[in-house]
Amino acid sequence: MSLNPQQKPVLAVIGVGPGIGEAVSHYFATKNFTVALIARTEEKLAKIQNTINTAVGRPDASKYYVADARSETSLQSTFAAIKDDLGPVNVLIYNAGSRRFTPRTILETSAEEFESFTKINLFGAFYAAKCVLPDMLAKGAGTIIFTGATGSIRGSAGLSSFSPGKFGLRSLSQIITREFQSRGIHAAHLIVDGPVESDLVGGVVRRRWEREGEAGSEKLKEKDLYLMQPSDLAEIYWYLYTQPRSTWTQELDVRAQREQMFSKM
Ligand SMILES: NC(=O)c1ccc[n+]([C@@H]2O[C@H](COP(=O)([O-])OP(=O)(O)OC[C@H]3O[C@@H](n4cnc5c(N)ncnc54)[C@H](OP(=O)(O)O)[C@@H]3O)[C@@H](O)[C@H]2O)c1
Repeated sequence: MSLNPQQKPVLAVIGVGPGIGEAVSHYFATKNFTVALIARTEEKLAKIQNTINTAVGRPDASKYYVADARSETSLQSTFAAIKDDLGPVNVLIYNAGSRRFTPRTILETSAEEFESFTKINLFGAFYAAKCVLPDMLAKGAGTIIFTGATGSIRGSAGLSSFSPGKFGLRSLSQIITREFQSRGIHAAHLIVDGPVESDLVGGVVRRRWEREGEAGSEKLKEKDLYLMQPSDLAEIYWYLYTQPRSTWTQELDVRAQREQMFSKM
């Protein structure tokens, strides 16, 4: 039995945590999408599914799937289940991305670590695109958005386990555009150029401000000047999805007002 009986358009988000992943899923759910929430941690996904479904007042607004983006078979079986449950995917957002928080030189980075992070930052997007493209092409329409970072266009010291995968992700987005835009596929790469108010990075920045005394408390009062807000980013994904076909963006970069334009330096 279909879990999407009204055949609402389907968004699949790979990499759903409490930051961008949840915000973008929530936003599309408010726009009448049914959303497949994909990550590795079931307890967290169940909570996010419940939050979204309650907030939008539709018990079937989102449904979670546990999968590891590093594994092609895991994504293949997940997308087969999504198609059975919800129908073909109209929009794919690949948001999974991971890095070691404390920088390490390449001499300190093991081959296993490099491979594991690169599988999350790049390979998963390749596997996922191959899962959704056949149905999108059959329909002559589909949107694929990859979440990038400052490291997508800047190789910084200490980020060897992150940046190479993100560079590759950017390239993959351009390749999908070149190969399939003429057949109705809009692929876009969104460079999130600075810290996001999310669990890890946002938490570190907030704790630093708390230690800074008065100057820090001013920043805490107006954190959206410094930290990108997931709910604001969600509107950017929606903007990319809803662009008229005569004006498709391939790449967009965004940063908070007082960010130092990392990727542009
Ligand atoms: N946060 C920032 O400051 C910031 C800045 C610039 C760019 N970005 C980019 O934004 C994206 C993440 O957004 P966010 O930071 O707001 O995080 P988020 O949406 O809160 O969470 C992302 C989720 O991705 C999931 N994930 C990681 N590895 C995975 C894997 N192998 N398979 C499936 N899911 C996986 C993790 O959940 P599980 O552990 O449960 O799998 C994590 O909770 C990344 O692409 C990152 O590079 C973030």
